[in-house]
Amino acid sequence: MKSRYAMSQDFAGVSMSRSIAFALLFACGATSASAAFAATPSALFNDNCSACHQTTGKGVKGAFPALAGDPFVQGDPGPMMATVLAGRAGMPSFKDDLSDLELASVLTYVRTSWGNKGKPVSASDIAAARKKLNAAKKPASLQAH
Ligand code: HEC
Repeated sequence: MKSRYAMSQDFAGVSMSRSIAFALLFACGATSASAAFAATPSALFNDNCSACHQTTGKGVKGAFPALAGDPFVQGDPGPMMATVLAGRAGMPSFKDDLSDLELASVLTYVRTSWGNKGKPVSASDIAAARKKLNAAKKPASLQAH
């Protein structure tokens, strides 16, 4: 107890180390907040997709399809958004893990990286794709349960 008090006194007394402490607190908070605001598109891809599709976007032959040069990720964004929201075969669903903004960011990254020439997708595109997916899912979920 005494040492904790002494430490905060030190911080209060030395304004330099106090601001460093705040900077550290801020930096840690920003990285641990599940990338909600600060994550760059490439960080989102590396955290969520690269384990399978690789940071190069080239995937792993016979297991994880390449996204680099893939016509599917450069064409109509609809099927691509549905795939990533709902998952498919060996790929998990991301609808509960990533926000509209995060999905827009990571899908735009995939569509425009490694020489890909797809058009960007926006958070409102993702929101619309979610609605479509939910509407399509209703009859199926009645059967499933
Ligand atoms: C656990 C491994 C894994 C992770 C993580 C993963 N994927 Fe996949 N992904 C797959 C597999 C396997 C397929 C092929 C599914 C199939 O056979 O239909 C796939 C397919 C895809 C496709 C369809 C490609 C095509 O040409 O049909 C897209 C787009 C895609 N993934 C994007 C992503 C994005 C974006 C992320 C991150 C948000 C991601 N994936 C994370 C394993 C993964």
